[in-house]
Amino acid sequence: MSVIETSAVAAWTGPFIEPERDAAIAALESGRVLFFPQLAFVLREEEKRLLTPDLYSGRATNISLDPSGALKHAAGAEADRALLQGMMQRFALNAASLIEGLFPRYAAKLERARTSYRPVEIAGRNQSPIHDDTRLHVDAFPTRPMHGRRILRLFSNVHPGATPRVWNVGEPFAEMAQKILPKVKRPSALAALVRAATFQTRGVRSRYDDLMMGLHDQAKLDMEYQRATPKTEFAFPPGTTWLCYTDQVMHAALSGQYVLEQTFHLDIDAMAEPARAPISVLERMTGRVLA
Ligand code: SIN
Ligand code: FE
Repeated sequence: MSVIETSAVAAWTGPFIEPERDAAIAALESGRVLFFPQLAFVLREEEKRLLTPDLYSGRATNISLDPSGALKHAAGAEADRALLQGMMQRFALNAASLIEGLFPRYAAKLERARTSYRPVEIAGRNQSPIHDDTRLHVDAFPTRPMHGRRILRLFSNVHPGATPRVWNVGEPFAEMAQKILPKVKRPSALAALVRAATFQTRGVRSRYDDLMMGLHDQAKLDMEYQRATPKTEFAFPPGTTWLCYTDQVMHAALSGQYVLEQTFHLDIDAMAEPARAPISVLERMTGRVLA
């Protein structure tokens, strides 16, 4: 089975026909990347001047927009920042419209989280192994405990030329976890409380959060795993959009520039098949309740 499922959806707003919706949710929840070759996020003429890495202040990995509207890690003049904010806001609204239309069962439980703009070429960035997203990983947040909730991310390549976003997609979550979980150290409950009490995390991290962070870190640190694990390279051309559960899909971003991304969080009971969520898989593997 291919790791990529191509969808003919070509508009940000529905209605979408039932076979289209059924195929989309089945692919998404089974851990495939849903690819929309005909769905472009089109920049307005005046927004094209935002296509420069100079807007990025260099303090984090991306420029981000909070759901509250606060812009972070952007440099540049006031007018450019306002333009950037407007563009990211429009992307966020389009992204939410697509997800709510295509997955009506998610709509009531969907939380729109951060929007990001990634104007810096990924290839050749000098990152520490843990922060190196050119290595295969599942996403996990170091400071935001999820307690089993899902991380769903939508990406659009807005490169003005021909440069694709190139990803590697790895093996299914359960197969990865079989190999990597034995290397994840057992964290102490006391450490989780101390981290929360000293505001290193927003709330106490669950056992699930520790395991997911452990899987993220140990997969990235294991160069033999990175070399030997099955992977499929895929190039997302400019003018296309893709969506996946990045807490489930092993992914690595190898090269590319100018991508917009919207993160959503979702309770697993909104899923068509909650048994496919990473927390369900890990609870079956460990025989423990994890959150
Ligand atoms: C990642 O989530 O690892 C990076 C994806 C990207 O920026 O293309
Ligand atoms: Fe990632």
